[in-house]
Amino acid sequence: MLRTVLLRHIAWRKKTTGGDESLYAGPDADSPAAEFESALCELLDRLDSQFPYASPRYAAQMLKDPSLPYIAGHFAAMLANPNNHAFEGGNVTTPLEMEVVDDLKRLLGFTAGWGHLTSGGSLANMEALWAVRDGGGEGRVLFSASSHYSWKRICSILRVTDFAEVAVDARQRMDLGALRRSLGEGKTLMVMANLGTTGVGAVDPLPEILALRNEFGFHLHVDAAYGGYLRAAVLSGNGEIRPRGEVADLLSPEAYDAMAVLGEVDSATVDPHKHGAAAYGVGGVIFRDEALRDVLLNTCPYTYHVREQPNIGMWQLEGSRPGAAAAGVWLAHRTMPLHAGGMGRIHAECLRSARALASELSSRGRYRLVCPPDLDILCFFDPGDGTVAGANEATGAVYRRLSVENPDAPFVLSKFVLTPEATAASAPDLSRNTGEELVALRAVFIKHWALLGEGRYLGMLVDALHDVDSRGR
Ligand SMILES: Cc1ncc(COP(=O)(O)O)c(C=O)c1O
Repeated sequence: MLRTVLLRHIAWRKKTTGGDESLYAGPDADSPAAEFESALCELLDRLDSQFPYASPRYAAQMLKDPSLPYIAGHFAAMLANPNNHAFEGGNVTTPLEMEVVDDLKRLLGFTAGWGHLTSGGSLANMEALWAVRDGGGEGRVLFSASSHYSWKRICSILRVTDFAEVAVDARQRMDLGALRRSLGEGKTLMVMANLGTTGVGAVDPLPEILALRNEFGFHLHVDAAYGGYLRAAVLSGNGEIRPRGEVADLLSPEAYDAMAVLGEVDSATVDPHKHGAAAYGVGGVIFRDEALRDVLLNTCPYTYHVREQPNIGMWQLEGSRPGAAAAGVWLAHRTMPLHAGGMGRIHAECLRSARALASELSSRGRYRLVCPPDLDILCFFDPGDGTVAGANEATGAVYRRLSVENPDAPFVLSKFVLTPEATAASAPDLSRNTGEELVALRAVFIKHWALLGEGRYLGMLVDALHDVDSRGR
């Protein structure tokens, strides 16, 4: 398929460059410059030392192979390098981006609104707060204490000094009592809820937060950068949410309830470069109220002159953005539609993987979960001698064997550090000194094949976890 792409691109160049051969196949086309060849060899050699990101053995961070359709679509458009900042820079890829946004709206359950792609989740989140700050008036910004680190950065950049972190419960979800108390303290501009925290994949209680929105009045943004695409697993082909009983083995009841009402929130971040299997450089932001984009309107004298088509850059924070990213996501969505019979099949495997590991660990007895998974991230620890320090020692020994710290690691996991409050909530029976933080192992099942090969990888991971003795051997 890449060959087809290349040949069509050469034909396009031929047609649009008036047959000037130097612009589509130079005289040295068959023999690359020596510097190019040797530098490429050096690059490939260096890339050989990457951690095993493409393997199921790597379950540490949110890295995922881009899908083949994404690669082909990205490559096809990238060869001409369109820029979706303005329609004139991306006359084909801008409409593709708008179609992708329609897909994302359907995925999240939005029946109206506007959105666009961004370079990532942080930028999408930042744009949401920027629009709300400039369009929505006064008040405090609230988000849970387990939210992504970008939120505090964003507040700092936007000079939103009036923000507060709301306490979380033992499942790392926003604590509703604490939220209500914060809401009662004064006007709130925006509440940011998570659909999949970075640490443990926690889903905040959206139905209840929506009810609080009706009572107190605020803009409700959902950071679904990680979890948004997982909604495909609970959508049927006609875009309706599947009955609870059909998906009970995939996600927690509370995560299902949050997915069911997601379309009622005011804005959301959803990242193709996480569970959408796009290469890095593609996030997305969606606003239910199209008028919010006009708050951000800014024009300039040298572009945006085509007015009957969207010039996305007029309403976005970033400047140049790759039309190729839109093309890649578009092709991925057309090949694997965003419902349970399409890309959702992959997501279901991810969700099942976390549950399978949770139940294996419970039945083998050594490890304890920080909390049952809402989605597909699982955190757990070895309680060691029953103190927080002892648990950290025992878990640390496993981490050193099964992480990037060990070049021969049979599996690569990451770690998650619980605050002292979260430590007390998630492991109340561990004896501890004031301020002690529990360190847990973290497995991110963004890859779908942990259950493939007849559970081979899962079994291997469980064995590897039990092979390490508490002194790290
Ligand atoms: C919940 C959540 N929000 C926001 C982000 C930031 O996204 P990005 O790294 O694409 O800027 C992440 C990244 O892991 C995330 O997990």
